Amino acid sequence: MRFDANTRLAGVIGNPVRHSLSPIMYNTVFSALGLNCVYMAFEVEKENLEDAIRGIRGLGFMGINVTIPHKTGVIPFLDELSAEAEIIGAVNTIVNKNGKLIGYNTDSYGYEMALQEKVGISLKNRNVFVIGAGGAAHAIAGQSILSGASAVVITNRTFEKAKSLMDFLNGTFCRHHQNSGSDCDAKTRLETVPWGTDAWRNILHDMDIIVNTTSIGMNGRGDLAQDIPWNNIKKDAVFFDVVYTPIETSFLKEAIRLGHRAVSGLYMLIYQGAKAFELWTGKKPPIELMEKTLVAHFSEKGGKDA
Ligand SMILES: NC(=O)c1ccc[n+]([C@@H]2O[C@H](COP(=O)([O-])OP(=O)(O)OC[C@H]3O[C@@H](n4cnc5c(N)ncnc54)[C@H](OP(=O)(O)O)[C@@H]3O)[C@@H](O)[C@H]2O)c1
Repeated sequence: MRFDANTRLAGVIGNPVRHSLSPIMYNTVFSALGLNCVYMAFEVEKENLEDAIRGIRGLGFMGINVTIPHKTGVIPFLDELSAEAEIIGAVNTIVNKNGKLIGYNTDSYGYEMALQEKVGISLKNRNVFVIGAGGAAHAIAGQSILSGASAVVITNRTFEKAKSLMDFLNGTFCRHHQNSGSDCDAKTRLETVPWGTDAWRNILHDMDIIVNTTSIGMNGRGDLAQDIPWNNIKKDAVFFDVVYTPIETSFLKEAIRLGHRAVSGLYMLIYQGAKAFELWTGKKPPIELMEKTLVAHFSEKGGKDA
């Protein structure tokens, strides 16, 4: 693709951002679809965040992705939030609609689609166990509630953060219900349990979807599989790991070895990107090409630090 005076701009802001796979993923798809667009990575310091967001409007970017540590920090600088971004309290995609900046959370969509496409299950009426309480956990727990899970149980090494996430979600769902004219009794049971094998043993036997949202296992650091009480788990429970370097973590490997279905964070990454692409261009990107591009990149890098 040759860039010219009509080339449209997109990108990702974060810090650090030089490891991001998004430029490779989006530019491959722009080129395959013959779209005159380019996607770049911008390392943005906290104190420059407002200027960076003004720049999107000022320079007429079609939109940007937002990554760590700016997913919550960008919110005050936006004109509008989608319902899921408001409930989750984090934005990973901004769309510039004729100068109006709208914040979305497509991580949550990526999680739900990955479950649907890779193992054919929906979140409705499921019991979901969320390991972790950071940014990814907000999206996973929030989407589980939005899609009608029966229960969301949150555990985190720093227990107060699990409690804060639960309180935050209770609060935003309550406001969401009140704004739509219904009462605030969420249909999903939300609870927290302490960190560790002993506490998990008492609850995991009842869980349908078990999600690692922590960075344990990223680039081979840490092994969550050691802490899971494997003999207390439903036979048909599904395991999901948000980590995608390596594509199959030891947590997923052990789940598969024991006969469980498992979904890699690679698919969450792909589907969140697919949704952002669609929001910016109005077109559906080729999922297989996105997967092929990322897998090829991982094999080149030997699965490390991608
Ligand atoms: N697949 C995707 O599309 C996608 C999307 C978003 C994020 N991610 C991945 O998700 C992971 C988490 O990202 P995030 O944005 O949620 O980060 P974050 O906000 O910094 O949260 C990190 C979480 O991991 C926990 N944690 C980290 N090291 C731990 C350890 N050694 N033992 C126990 N808990 C530990 C933290 O617990 P404490 O609160 O106790 O510190 C916290 O719950 C990263 O690997 C990121 O790449 C993937």
